[in-house]
Amino acid sequence: MGVSMSYCSSFSYSDPRNQVQNPADVSDQERIDFWARQARERLSWGKLWDEDKTHEFIPPRLVDVREDGVQEFSVPTIKWFEGGQLNVAYNCVDRHVEQGFGDKVALFFEGEPGDREAITYAQLQRRVAQAAHGLERLGVVKGDRVVVYLPVIPETIIFALACARIGAIHSLVFGGFSAEALKFRVEDTGAKVLITTDGQNRRGKVVPVKSIADEACSSENNIEHVVVVNRTSATEQERQSVPWCLGRDVWYHDLIEGVPDTHDYPLHDAEDPLFIIYTSGTTGQPKGLVHTMGGYLTQTAYSHALLYDLLPDIVDADGVLRPDELATRNNRQKVADTVHWCTADLAWVTAHTYEIYGPLVNGVSQVIFEGTPDTPTFERHFEMIERYGVTNYYTAPTLIRSLMGAFPHGPEPGKYDFSSVRLLGSVGESINPQAWYWLREHIGSGRASFIDTWWQSETGSTICSPRPHDPQFAPEGTFEQGTPGIAVKPGCATRAIPGVSVRVVDEHGEPVQTGAQGFIVVDKVGPSMARTVWKNPQRYLDSYWRHYGERGWFLAGDGAKQDEDGDIYILGRIDDVINISGHRLSTIEIESALVRHEAVVEAGVCPVEDELTGHQAVAFVTLSDEGKALSSSELRKVLELHIRSEIGPIAKPKDVVAVAEIPKTRSGKITRRLLSQLYERKPLGDTSSLQNDEALRDIAQVLSCS
Ligand code: PRX
Repeated sequence: MGVSMSYCSSFSYSDPRNQVQNPADVSDQERIDFWARQARERLSWGKLWDEDKTHEFIPPRLVDVREDGVQEFSVPTIKWFEGGQLNVAYNCVDRHVEQGFGDKVALFFEGEPGDREAITYAQLQRRVAQAAHGLERLGVVKGDRVVVYLPVIPETIIFALACARIGAIHSLVFGGFSAEALKFRVEDTGAKVLITTDGQNRRGKVVPVKSIADEACSSENNIEHVVVVNRTSATEQERQSVPWCLGRDVWYHDLIEGVPDTHDYPLHDAEDPLFIIYTSGTTGQPKGLVHTMGGYLTQTAYSHALLYDLLPDIVDADGVLRPDELATRNNRQKVADTVHWCTADLAWVTAHTYEIYGPLVNGVSQVIFEGTPDTPTFERHFEMIERYGVTNYYTAPTLIRSLMGAFPHGPEPGKYDFSSVRLLGSVGESINPQAWYWLREHIGSGRASFIDTWWQSETGSTICSPRPHDPQFAPEGTFEQGTPGIAVKPGCATRAIPGVSVRVVDEHGEPVQTGAQGFIVVDKVGPSMARTVWKNPQRYLDSYWRHYGERGWFLAGDGAKQDEDGDIYILGRIDDVINISGHRLSTIEIESALVRHEAVVEAGVCPVEDELTGHQAVAFVTLSDEGKALSSSELRKVLELHIRSEIGPIAKPKDVVAVAEIPKTRSGKITRRLLSQLYERKPLGDTSSLQNDEALRDIAQVLSCS
């Protein structure tokens, strides 16, 4: 059944309530009202929520103290707009068509081999409708999980939206992940359908990935069907050679043969799950964070509009407030002029928010690119920025560093036209000032705004970032347009965006002094905050809320400091997580994979600094007899291959060092910090808690000989 939805047309830009005073000091009620207005006016709802259900937050409470002294807490409850009903896919696609923007390009797709396709909002609507029918043909119903193991191609977005449309929960898995990593996600989600391709284009080669999907479904699981998108089989013969499980597998083009290209969408509750995204934690297997429909889309829509400069300039050059009508026109113009390009793989949270849902819900055009930036040459991104007239280029520091490495003085002067670029953005790790300046000078023509967005899979969308506007455009005391006083500081994530707030505190929750390292906590979480860990609320509590939860603060897991203006610098992870090229990997996950190999008895994995990727993993291993029989280069090779197949190429250690013993604390914890210091030849920090400090001498000696 189709449902008619109201489209916001009454947003009043000059209404002071839409420009609430700046962050931390707004009252809870003002903050809740702020998000309620964003939800009402940026999204179309089939049914609004009752006002008293706008927001519910129950922080963890101490419920028991066990005999061994361990405190037991209740799990937190976070809800936004409960009882409100909407359809996420309608909001991202159909309503733009209804508004007369059907001919506008939603996606400029470019494949690695150079194939191109411009997909309008009207075409996207039809293709999402077909995919939704296809999923329904396979018996997928609301609440079912669908794992999407695809590269960056239009179908990845189409399937995400088709799931959202019918209320199935999608979980996107990075196309470069191994069968093991995929299998874990298939099993943990209990997915009914897995979507994959026959092959993937990778650096000029076709990698047959269907067999990886098959391997991931080889042991017990709930998969009933595997849908195969034809990406690389050009001929009938090639199609025939794709490994096939009769009765289970279906080509996507066969699945949607003859289905209608319209689809009546149902409404879903704001708190129904939209997707599960896996992220590495300190211990054990990756955690499946659960994001819900209404809250996630609200903060995504708002933060995308705020950060990518879609909010109207409500004051003119003389600082005079513009009437609403002019502001609305200015906003429409900005949406019309935007060509957004977020370079992330669609499976990462960055892309969920600023490549799938954010740009689409706000109705802009965007570029999606299948390939790696150096294929066929490192100039690919330059060509594409020029080809599509990209206005917003949002990428990761590691990519900027590789471009900088290939072109230290920028591309050949005058070779490319980058005049369209207005806004540059960075995410995934702290950006070093050299990379910041390089990008702004060479791609941003020395004048583009630069947003350094700090956030996480857990927060669902940006928490801290400079505003895109120059401070002088900000009306005094407002934050919709920017915050007066925020200066451009390379490598600084500055402040919380409206509607959320953060603190940098010590272990006891006290503010740390200016310049000193503390822990960043989100003390007022927004509507896009993950609600739980899939099937494991206890892990959600233990990972994020145990430490400061009673105060209602979310522990993000990053160190941070504040400068004298109160602006925030992120200093990296405080837990056992390595950030490689902006991707989070757990040291423990890599260690567990290593000890599964017959050559290894015990492993300690630590991060070491790397010019290109930010950090890399170095593995220290103690060996079994099989391991001892190998030369060091053989050992390195087999373990590299092993990690590639167990986790994926991204986790491949930079170095493997065979040692007699792994240093541990008296309570048996591997001291990864000391391993990093040893490897980087830095002075060792506190070693007093070690149970085996002779291990350090031994490792230092091994390293000095290598
Ligand atoms: O350590 C922080 C780093 O990436 C972590 C989140 O990783 P993930 O959940 O995979 O999401 C990445 C994309 C949002 C954070 O805990 N990080 C992310 N953005 C920044 C950052 N570190 C410094 N500056 C940033 N702008």
